[in-house]
Parts: sequence; C-alpha cells; structure tokens
Amino acid sequence: MDVFTWESAFKMPASQRKAALLRGEPIRRRPFPSWPIFGREEESGLLRALHSGNWGRLDGQEVAKFEKRFAETHDCKNGIAVVNGTVSLRIALLAAGIRAEDEVIVPPYTFFSTASAVVESNAVPIFADIDLNTFNLDPKAIERAITRRTRAIIPVHFAGLPAEMEKILALAKRHKLTVIEDAAHAHGASYKRKPAGSLGHIGSFSFQSSKNLTAGEGGIITTNDKALAESCRSIQNCGRIPGGVWYEHHLVSGNYRLSEFQGAVLNAQLSRLEQQTTRRDQNGQYLASKLSSLPGLHPQKRPASCTRHSYHLFMVRIDSELFGISRDLAVQALEAEGIPCSAGYGFSLPHQPMFKEKAFGPYLPLAAKRLNYSKMRCPNSDLVCRQSIWLAHNLLLGSRADMDDIANAFEKIFENRDPLKQWASKNRKRAKLS
Ligand SMILES: Cc1ncc(COP(=O)(O)O)c(C=O)c1O
Repeated sequence: MDVFTWESAFKMPASQRKAALLRGEPIRRRPFPSWPIFGREEESGLLRALHSGNWGRLDGQEVAKFEKRFAETHDCKNGIAVVNGTVSLRIALLAAGIRAEDEVIVPPYTFFSTASAVVESNAVPIFADIDLNTFNLDPKAIERAITRRTRAIIPVHFAGLPAEMEKILALAKRHKLTVIEDAAHAHGASYKRKPAGSLGHIGSFSFQSSKNLTAGEGGIITTNDKALAESCRSIQNCGRIPGGVWYEHHLVSGNYRLSEFQGAVLNAQLSRLEQQTTRRDQNGQYLASKLSSLPGLHPQKRPASCTRHSYHLFMVRIDSELFGISRDLAVQALEAEGIPCSAGYGFSLPHQPMFKEKAFGPYLPLAAKRLNYSKMRCPNSDLVCRQSIWLAHNLLLGSRADMDDIANAFEKIFENRDPLKQWASKNRKRAKLS
C-alpha cells in the first residue's frame, strides 16, 4: 500500500480521502507487528528448562541467570525475580520497612497495582497529581502531599518515560523517604543515561503479557542496596535467610519465586530488548514530532533528562475543542482507519470503587476511618483520563512507513472532522429514538 500523505491527497480518489468511518478507504489494512515476538531462542530455552528436570528456581540456572543479566542491563548489583509486578512493589515496600498506616505517595494516573500494593502492605496510598505534559508525578504535587506520616514515594515511569527523578530524590532526601520506582513500563528506559530501576532505592518491573519484556507473568526487583536486596530475597523465599536451615523462617512472607520456564523465556526475550527498545524510541520520537504539528494534539512531552523512552505506550492527549472531534470519536475513527488504539484508563485511581468505598479488607482499619479519597483532587490526571489516546508498544516495532500511516490517519481524521462530527451526532439521535 502506498504511503498516504496530504500533499498527494488531492490526487486520490474521493473514497480514499473520506474517513473510513464514513465509508471511505481505510489508511491501512495490513496488521502492525503482533506481540509477543518469539522464535527459536524461546523454544530452545523452554526445552532446555524442560530437559534439565529442574523446573523450579531453587535448583535451576535460568532464573538465576536472568536475574543477573537483567540487573546488569539496568545498572544494578541485585535482581530478585518474583511472580509479578504487583508483588514486587509490595515486597519492595515491606523490605523498605514501611509500617502499618504509614503514608506512601503515588500517582493517580497509573495501573491499579501501584496503589493496591501499598494497601496490601497495610500502608496508605496518598495521591499526588501528575504533570499535564509528561503524565508523570509532578514533584510540586508530591511536596504538597508530604506529611509527618509519609515514608515513601512510588514514581511510575509512565508509558516508559522516566519520572523527574532528580527532584523526587532531592525531596526524598530532605524528608528521609524511600523511593521505589514503578518501572513496569520502563524496561531499558533511561534518565540522564542511567537506566530506570537504578535511579531510586529500589526498582520494580513487570513481565505480564502486555509488557515490553514478558514471560506471560512475572516481575523483578532491582537495587544497589545490599541490605534491601537481602530483605527482598528473604521475603521472596518464605522468610529464609542466607546460611539458614531450610525449614527455618524469619519473617512473615510466602513463595513468590518464578519458575525455570519463565526464566528461560525471559532470558530469550532479554536478548531482544536492546534492539526493540531502540526501535520503539526512534519511532516514538518520529511519530510525536509528526503529531505535534496537528491542532489540539499533545503527544507525551519528553524532557531533555529522558535519554531513552521505552514507549510501552505511545500517548497523545487530544484537545477536542482544537482538534474538532471528541477523544472517543477519534479512537473510533482511528480504529476504522486500521490503527489499533484505546482511550486508556476511564478515571483516576481515587475514583476507583475500591478507594471510594475504602474496600480495604483486613488492611488499614484506622486510616479507613479518617480517609476520604473523593477529596483527593487530581485535576490533571482526570483531564488525561478524558483526553488520552494510547497506542501499544508493538505498533512502534514497525517501520517508518508504519509511523507515517498512524500520523496520516490522525491527519485524515482531522481533515474529516466536520463530517465525522455530523455522523456522530446523527448516530446519537438515532440511538435516542430507538
Ligand atoms: C504501572 C504498573 N505498575 C504495576 C503493574 C503490575 O504488574 P503485574 O500485572 O505484573 O502485577 C502494572 C501492570 O500492568 C503497571 O502497568
């Protein structure tokens, strides 16, 4: 298929200039690269684990090898692989010595786990708003949220863009807080040339199936702090300690270990990470530069401190006044043009039923009485929930021409904004009548 550009659009038949939702020709019929990507390396790794007869982490080589490689890749001395990226956050909090009813500052625009892991550590998530340009925690909002109860901050490197770590670490130092990076989206990302996961006191990654590095499920904790690493390792392994007797347990915990099959897949996936991250980063920057020339489109802004964006998501905020149509209609129109996308989170975390109703189960009996999450206002996060469009990272694994297709789809929709608006309004009227 030829690349669509508006310079050549006047030569095109009317059916191609018309939005696909209005029965025009879609920009794209070919699929984008699918996810996960795998091949011989994953196959041979799985067979290696199978034939070794050592299927669990305790006796095998795969997970241990992966922990070492992943930690080194992320400039860390220690890596502790665990069952997922929620458990890794919880273990990091427990290892950091967070106690009952302590407060932990988290962003409101993130996956549920960033905050639910805090509740599951019997601590209180306090939401600080995000920056409207980067979609990451705003250090000024963090400062306003700090109280005498605050013990930790969990900055999320949202979509793969590193948070403002220098300012966050300075605040943490001043207030004696632990910084746990939620790097679930940030495999291979870097801030001032330092990898995500090595910037705070502890880092937490996820290997769930949608992530840039995956074994279906899984997670890892990274740290350069020996004492924190030992504590995490003990919590990951039923409270055992180095040199301890096998059936001797020193603290309340469980078995959060990965299997060797997951380790084998992760080892193979890790070999692909560098090349994939470079591709995503180049394509993401190219696409952002193209989209920012259209009225009302605000791609996630990349500060100079970001030396590599891992683009787990490509995010763009759409101001419908200027772009001419609503975010939801834009998503529908993009899908019709052959560009898979979504609107992301429907609302900020404080509006989740769990927080509104303080459905904390056995946790936080005291804080539940005093907390009112409806009063924790995060207007920037609410706006991003209403305005954002997400494209998944696998789209960015394609070619430059694929990025042109995405940019051209946005442009085509913008050109068709008036007929699209009329179409949507007619549909709404029809739906009301029926
Ligand atoms: C920002 C963020 N943190 C934590 C997690 C939790 O990871 P997992 O699903 O592996 O528990 C996710 C998963 O989607 C995430 O997006």
